[in-house]
Amino acid sequence: MRTIFLLEILVLSASNAWALSGIITDPNQVNGQSFDYVIVGGGLGGLVVANRLSEDSSITVLVIEAGGDDRTNNKVYDPYQYSAAFSTPLNWAWPSSQGRTINGGKTLGGSTSINGLAQTRAQKDQYDALATLLNGDDADGKWTWDGMFAAMLKSEGFSGPNDNQQAAGASQNPAYHSTTGPLQVTYPDDIYQGPHQKYFKQVISTNFSVPASVDADGGDAAVVAFHPNTIDWHDSDHRSSSATAYWSPIEGQRENIAILINQQATKILFNSGTPVHATGVQFGTSDGSRYEVDANREVIVSAGAIQSPALLQLSGIGDQGLLQSVGIDVVLDLPGVGKNLQEQTLDSIGWTLIDGFNPDGRGPSDCIAYPNLDALFGSNASAIANTIDNNLQSYADDAAQAGAVISSDAAMSIFRIQQDLMVNKGVGLAEMFFDTGFPNGGLGVDMWQLLPFSRGTVSITSTDPFTYPAVDPRYFAADIDMQIQVAGLRLSRKVFQAAPLRSIVTSENAPGFNTVSDDSDGGPEDQWRQWILDGFASVHHPIATCSMMAQEYGGVVGSDLKVYGTDNLRVVDASVLPMQISAHLAASLYGLAENAADM
Ligand SMILES: Cc1cc2nc3c(=O)[nH]c(=O)nc-3n(C[C@H](O)[C@H](O)[C@H](O)COP(=O)(O)OP(=O)(O)OC[C@H]3O[C@@H](n4cnc5c(N)ncnc54)[C@H](O)[C@@H]3O)c2cc1C
Ligand SMILES: *[C@@H]1O[C@H](CO)[C@@H](O)[C@H](O)[C@H]1NC(C)=O
Ligand SMILES: *[C@@H]1O[C@H](CO)[C@@H](O)[C@H](O)[C@H]1NC(C)=O
Repeated sequence: MRTIFLLEILVLSASNAWALSGIITDPNQVNGQSFDYVIVGGGLGGLVVANRLSEDSSITVLVIEAGGDDRTNNKVYDPYQYSAAFSTPLNWAWPSSQGRTINGGKTLGGSTSINGLAQTRAQKDQYDALATLLNGDDADGKWTWDGMFAAMLKSEGFSGPNDNQQAAGASQNPAYHSTTGPLQVTYPDDIYQGPHQKYFKQVISTNFSVPASVDADGGDAAVVAFHPNTIDWHDSDHRSSSATAYWSPIEGQRENIAILINQQATKILFNSGTPVHATGVQFGTSDGSRYEVDANREVIVSAGAIQSPALLQLSGIGDQGLLQSVGIDVVLDLPGVGKNLQEQTLDSIGWTLIDGFNPDGRGPSDCIAYPNLDALFGSNASAIANTIDNNLQSYADDAAQAGAVISSDAAMSIFRIQQDLMVNKGVGLAEMFFDTGFPNGGLGVDMWQLLPFSRGTVSITSTDPFTYPAVDPRYFAADIDMQIQVAGLRLSRKVFQAAPLRSIVTSENAPGFNTVSDDSDGGPEDQWRQWILDGFASVHHPIATCSMMAQEYGGVVGSDLKVYGTDNLRVVDASVLPMQISAHLAASLYGLAENAADM
């Protein structure tokens, strides 16, 4: 007995001596090693799960990240430099259809290292819809408002507005926040002191039926409110990303977690058998080098909504027809992989400030309105509701014909849930992000329709993992998406024409009345449509390409986030969110990842 005990100590200390930890740059140190969990992607989903799993010191974790560790790069940590990273190698910059680029962070922290830092939650019913899309397969109640609210609070470390920030308009309901989670959330130190953000809130609530709210984070989100940012309140000029929130505090503290950077996962490895079982991950760089690592327990894919479906397809999990056309051996025919892609469309309205008006601060901007069907369409709301109802089948048929959903019936089941949220539950249909200094230096509203009925695809076109997949969101394939885009822009134009906002601007500079003329509706629909098609951008919010849904709807993962037909392969990132929400994505995805880690 004594000998066995000693042997165990020897084995334990030997494995500890070999355990890798910290940031690893040399792939040879990892090659051929085994870890309990191998996580692909060190972005939002990946680092939350890595942190929580490694709380148990008996578990070993490896994260493989395609980008580098850029936490000390000011294009990453400085909140005032939003967009500076876009034209650098820190951005994947996937080309998508109609010439629109979709941005995504290629660096530790993923897109949370380059995003706009807005921290927003959606409407209660939209979280409850997650369980509905699983056909009720949610025994633990994780995929409901209650489950997601608890998980979002777990991630949040909130610091409410100070006197200065309150004077600028910021307010809070402490019941909606946690102060103890890792993700730092607060208002900017240099918040705009000019009255313009308060004017926006006043005008859109008094004159345009979007209720004013003290704090929108409690599940009642179709309102206008000041929203906080993911800014580190201990280090106030710095971004709080999944890297600084979930990795920096444990770096050097835990022997059981390593992050390999500048290496891209090229294939998930499986043994033959049913259910399919992941044994490890192959990775390398575009120079052709390849290495392998073993997973004792699970492989977790957190490569984001574009690269996660691409990696599954490269590994033989996806639509059989697609895989065969590219020359990939089929491991599992799972047609939902890469389908159901939903991306939003952005246009910005701009107005010139009167001489002498000083916004007095640097931002980032804080005030956001989420108009619902009634606020957006007024007396036309019931006509629009009928338009949706009458056209639902044609949206579904069109998506099925394009191969963007697994079938027209599946799409109808999903669309009925979406229709109910949009028409009966009063969720926000558009985001109006009130912006200081953008698009043309004065004031602006960045507007996007939130809940597209258009569905698209992510499909590999080659067996080369370094060739980008084809990304086709099929922007505006469902015409209702365009009608909502027009309505959102008309409303955005109108708010600047109402006092007191009107008193601090001179004229519209984007698009300008010469380009889209003005009338009592806020401009002719045909002119708006043309201007939108000419100039819209992607919102960089792709989701749903490995949807957490019932398999009959085209789901790829179940309520446990395991890929259907496998016993140890999970997906934890934006690709599992099955439907867009009326909010920016990150706050909800942090909740989703906390839920995942809990399992
Ligand atoms: C420009 C921009 C602005 C945004 N603004 C906001 C905002 O203001 N508020 C908000 O809430 N949300 C915002 N978002 C959205 C939000 O940041 C993302 O939805 C979220 O980060 C997605 O999380 P994820 O885990 O799916 O992917 P990511 O956080 O993008 O992480 C994926 C990671 O996987 C890595 N990876 C990919 N493929 C591989 C591979 N094969 N091998 C190894 N590693 C790989 C990537 O390099 C990346 O680090 C914005 C996004 C962008 C791009
Ligand atoms: C906005 O509402 C206020 C208060 O009801 C009203 O006095 C004002 O005339 C309205 N302005 C516009 C442009 O409708
Ligand atoms: C309401 O519908 C009418 C008739 O289709 C249209 O002319 C008008 O522009 C719409 N108004 C708004 C604000 O959408």
